[in-house]
Amino acid sequence: MKYFMLLGVLLLSGPAFAGDIDVGKAGATVCAGCHGIDGKSTAPGFPNLAGQDFLYLKNQLINFRNKSRTGGQAAVMYGMVSGLSDEDIDNLATYFSSLNP
Ligand code: HEC
Repeated sequence: MKYFMLLGVLLLSGPAFAGDIDVGKAGATVCAGCHGIDGKSTAPGFPNLAGQDFLYLKNQLINFRNKSRTGGQAAVMYGMVSGLSDEDIDNLATYFSSLNP
């Protein structure tokens, strides 16, 4: 019985995200024009972000910020992330990874 209760607590608390979903959502209004506030791309050429892996999203944002991700449309993202702190990135990655794909 004790173990079932523990399992319940673990399930309710969900995956261990590093950021704050609500703060991330507020910050995501800047991204919504292209990626959608629901993380679903608004036009061809813009990737869906909803439900993507947290660490993957975080790493891509860091890579755009330090311009180590190049090619394709990467330059479009440089201006979007240049002013973001590590905490902003965590919050955005937490928000988009929390959405249903
Ligand atoms: C003007 C349109 C535009 C805006 C606004 C924008 N993005 Fe992007 N984003 C793109 C494009 C285009 C790509 C594809 C880049 C490439 O080809 O490498 C991309 C790629 C990404 C990726 C990588 C996805 C993957 O599957 O590898 C992430 C993560 C991302 N954007 C997050 C954000 C966040 C967070 C914001 C807001 C702070 C934002 N974007 C704002 C156009 C935009």
